[in-house]
Amino acid sequence: MNIVVVANYDSMSAEVAKLLYAQITRKPTSVLGLATGSTPLGVYKLLVEYHARGTDFSRLTTFNLDEYVGLAPDHPQSYNYYMKENLFSKVNLKPENTHVPNGLAPDLEAECQRYEELIKKAGGIDLQILGIGTNGHIGFNEPGTDFGAITHVVDLAESTIRDNSRFFASIDEVPTRAISMGIKTIMQAKEIILMASGGSKADAVYAAVHGPVTPDVPASVLQLHPSVTLVVDQAAASKL
Ligand code: F6R
Repeated sequence: MNIVVVANYDSMSAEVAKLLYAQITRKPTSVLGLATGSTPLGVYKLLVEYHARGTDFSRLTTFNLDEYVGLAPDHPQSYNYYMKENLFSKVNLKPENTHVPNGLAPDLEAECQRYEELIKKAGGIDLQILGIGTNGHIGFNEPGTDFGAITHVVDLAESTIRDNSRFFASIDEVPTRAISMGIKTIMQAKEIILMASGGSKADAVYAAVHGPVTPDVPASVLQLHPSVTLVVDQAAASKL
């Protein structure tokens, strides 16, 4: 694992945006795996700036990691909405090339299968960006998830519901289930960038990098991937 420690959130965002820019320039038809949450917001802001200065996104394809079950794409806390607000509406990605699981699909199992097949049809993910949960989750693969899982419906852990309640009016409004790419889906990406910022992530980052490879810490599986870059600020790296 290649580990890049930077000073703070802004430098983490700049570093990851630079790596994405390099990927897009090297291969304008790249398939990118995208994350939501607080961590990548700075990266998306910088990508929008790159686009304003001429970077072309029109030949890229994107797949998001996950979506809450039960939230419509126009629900302000849905990941569909988040992506439209923060990236898709601000760069020239073609809407038909952007993919987020449909949390309202009547048959969720079929939706998971459809999503997994779409990724395969696109040729697989070239570069996947990931955040990390305080419990070590990646995507919404909570502790205990089988490393062999592909895109699936997950029950969110109590700690994830608590962590994510900051985005909702009350904890009761946080969905309890999500569709998430599986660990196997993520591990099939050719390259992975894991980002983390802030002291609340320090234990999870330590366990991911130095702990045993175990489903108890889903991010620890990344130790087995041949091409992972961890971009982490000093607070999140404080226990490394
Ligand atoms: C988001 C995702 C999650 C987040 C993680 C960290 O698509 O898959 O794994 O990356 O929960 O969230 P933040 O960045 O809000 O701390």
